[in-house]
Amino acid sequence: MAGNRTFTMIKPDAVANGHIGNILSDIIAGGFKIVAMKYTHLNAETAGAFYAVHKERPFYGDLVEFMTSGPIVAAILEKDNAVEDFRTLIGATNPQEAAEGTIRAKYAKSIDANAVHGSDSDENAAIEGNFFFSQFERH
Ligand code: CMP
Repeated sequence: MAGNRTFTMIKPDAVANGHIGNILSDIIAGGFKIVAMKYTHLNAETAGAFYAVHKERPFYGDLVEFMTSGPIVAAILEKDNAVEDFRTLIGATNPQEAAEGTIRAKYAKSIDANAVHGSDSDENAAIEGNFFFSQFERH
């Protein structure tokens, strides 16, 4: 059965461009409840650890640099079928390929500056949520 939580970050480009409010509105209108939220600024250590799964990918260095370039908003979201429904709401990783009306189609500029992150599985949603919000750890 699909889980009911996912994890998101509003990335530095979307924060810098003033889209926090619009993106949170879209998330809430999409039926998601915000159950934890934090405004913070990642450093190389925290961004590198968060994206450690991509360590061997050629874009890892640029990704860490970009994710430390300004503040972000991290949040845990709740909805039935959360991971899949949130990925539909945000659109494809590359905003050039994101369906019309999706968050990335509306607010993202490039595959690096793609406005938001969304977990790709229930397992990663739990890991990523726990990375930022220790009170959501599973015991
Ligand atoms: P995100 O969902 O946060 O997960 C990893 C990020 O790496 C991704 O969004 C993109 O912003 C970034 N990225 C850069 N190049 C690529 C690529 N070729 N494939 C996937 N992700 C990429």
